[in-house]
Amino acid sequence: MVKKIAVLTSGGDAPGMNACVRAVIRACLAHKIEPYVIYDGYKGLLEKRIVKVDKKFTQDIINRGGTVILTARLPEFKNVELQKRAIEILKEMGIDGLIGIGGDGTYRGLLGLSKLGFPVIGIPGTIDNDIASTDKTIGFDTALNTICECIDKLKDTSSSHQRCSVVEVMGRHCGDLAIFSGIAEAAELTITFDHRVPDSVIFEKLKTMHDKEKSHAIVIVSENLLDVNEFAKEIEENTGFETRAEVLGRLQRGGTPTAEDRILASRFGAAAVELLANDISGRVVGIKKNAIVDIPINQALEMERDIHKPLIHLIDLLA
Ligand code: ADP
Ligand code: F6P
Repeated sequence: MVKKIAVLTSGGDAPGMNACVRAVIRACLAHKIEPYVIYDGYKGLLEKRIVKVDKKFTQDIINRGGTVILTARLPEFKNVELQKRAIEILKEMGIDGLIGIGGDGTYRGLLGLSKLGFPVIGIPGTIDNDIASTDKTIGFDTALNTICECIDKLKDTSSSHQRCSVVEVMGRHCGDLAIFSGIAEAAELTITFDHRVPDSVIFEKLKTMHDKEKSHAIVIVSENLLDVNEFAKEIEENTGFETRAEVLGRLQRGGTPTAEDRILASRFGAAAVELLANDISGRVVGIKKNAIVDIPINQALEMERDIHKPLIHLIDLLA
């Protein structure tokens, strides 16, 4: 049975990561395992920024956004020699289990450590919801609600000016934030990698709206798909609709985690410790149909992501 577990957060921060760190620490204490935190992800691990923590560390963090144990991106962690060094450092401190909270990049780092024989568990934490092995990732719900709050505000001004607003939302290459916010905000158009809309259809729809209803319009676009400022100009030229572009950016990553994210994070954290306490490792936890599941990391990384066809259909149906 493991005696000392360390937890790190890695990649982009996500609201709810603190709730997860809290759950890991408290579950360790409940299992009589010594909890450690690693500051700054894999970078901090290699810099030995590892600290033993107690229950006090977990006070008043469940409701805080960001990650109190900091995060970092260290692309060099692909290097097996660095992974071996990380394991040496963990072993020097007597740590015999590692929990990593992050996205698929973080999972790849954990997989490397696992292949070298070190016990690890991964927890999905990213606003992007781009992990195939889970229905939801920590942070997605909060980011989605932040987007909705921002678009509600935008609607006040765009309706007053009878403008079209093109709103770029995050997700890296995953359209979930766009698709879910598109439905929740009743956007006139939602454009993602999995739901592209021809320019002719976009222009036709907005021109008709503008000519007939003189209303306002919201167009939600996934990041990395097109230049929203250029796109706004094209809309204006082709439809006559006065158009402005908004990039919501990192605002989407901040803020108080929703209750849903706190609960999800707490369930994931406790489940991850439970696995290591039972000498099960090399896996990632997730949620499927509201049940906590776990599968091997390599299998999780190979799975195809759900592109939410019924939701995409709903967007078209209700548009
Ligand atoms: P996320 O975990 O949210 O996908 P990143 O893609 O930035 O975020 O990955 C987080 C970190 O995981 C990277 O900065 C790097 O340290 C590590 N990582 C990413 N890819 C690999 C890989 N192929 N092998 C080992 N470590 C990796
Ligand atoms: O993975 C989370 C995320 O916010 C993505 O949605 C986005 O593409 C990326 O991180 C931005 O990262 P950074 O803040 O390092 O530019």
